[in-house]
Amino acid sequence: MRTFAILNMKGGVGKTTTAVNLAYLLAAEYRLRTLLIDADPQANATHALLPDGDRTGLAGLLGGYATVYDEVVAPSGIPNLDVIPASEELWGIDLNERTGDRPLHGTASALRDLRDAAMEDDAYDVIVIDCPPNFSAACVAAINAANSIIIPVLPDAFSAAGMDSLVYQIDGVRKIHPDVRVAGCLVTQWHRADVVEDATAHLRSESPVPVFDTVIRRTDKVLEATWAREPVQTWSPFSAAARDYRAWVKELVRKEGLENA
Ligand SMILES: Nc1ncnc2c1ncn2[C@@H]1O[C@H](COP(=O)(O)OP(=O)(O)O)[C@@H](O)[C@H]1O
Ligand SMILES: [Mg+2]
Repeated sequence: MRTFAILNMKGGVGKTTTAVNLAYLLAAEYRLRTLLIDADPQANATHALLPDGDRTGLAGLLGGYATVYDEVVAPSGIPNLDVIPASEELWGIDLNERTGDRPLHGTASALRDLRDAAMEDDAYDVIVIDCPPNFSAACVAAINAANSIIIPVLPDAFSAAGMDSLVYQIDGVRKIHPDVRVAGCLVTQWHRADVVEDATAHLRSESPVPVFDTVIRRTDKVLEATWAREPVQTWSPFSAAARDYRAWVKELVRKEGLENA
């Protein structure tokens, strides 16, 4: 079983879009039993895959009032794809940790424990975690559970400062979990413009971690899919971004040996 955390401390770089499309494709096309964990209190991945509802979800697990993962897992309706939803309750977990008010024990290892339990039960082949843009309690738990990190990046961010920020983030992640691998950076919202092409070339030559060959093109259909609350794979399967995500997941499955996950 493999666990991927989709991570970048910047917002709006395509983490949620990448997590939702990756989880959808692994489940629906590769027939891998997939669990998507939404670790962002903004709950964008949850909104993309589940109808509105009152659910404790991940906060229940991190807060220690749900003891087994089955209690917080919701079926997505898509074959092979389950979701552990996020909610604004996740903010409360951070607040409790920071203020020492009701200090929580085991929050940092909660997702690793979940992963180990799911592995013992042979419940899933792959776990995908959509992270928030900060090192919150849920994000630390995600990093601790991950075998591999995927970092979506905007292609026009790679001036020298952008590269410094990438290096700084990876150092931060390794302080939390020294053995975690970075599977690669994924360029999202790519479009034809000099600044984008120059920055992408700069990233490929200077990045301290692998950069995926496939880039994801910018397409308005992704935004429409967000409004429609479904993956762009089902909303507009032949759009450039939907096709690019299929090509990228194929690259990832090959490079990570996921056929035998
Ligand atoms: N390939 C793309 N083309 C066009 N818009 C995109 C693309 N990827 C993401 N977006 C849009 O950009 C915004 C941020 O993406 P999102 O995946 O939510 O990023 P993050 O999770 O990193 O904050 C969303 O409105 C999303 O619909
Ligand atoms: Mg997000």
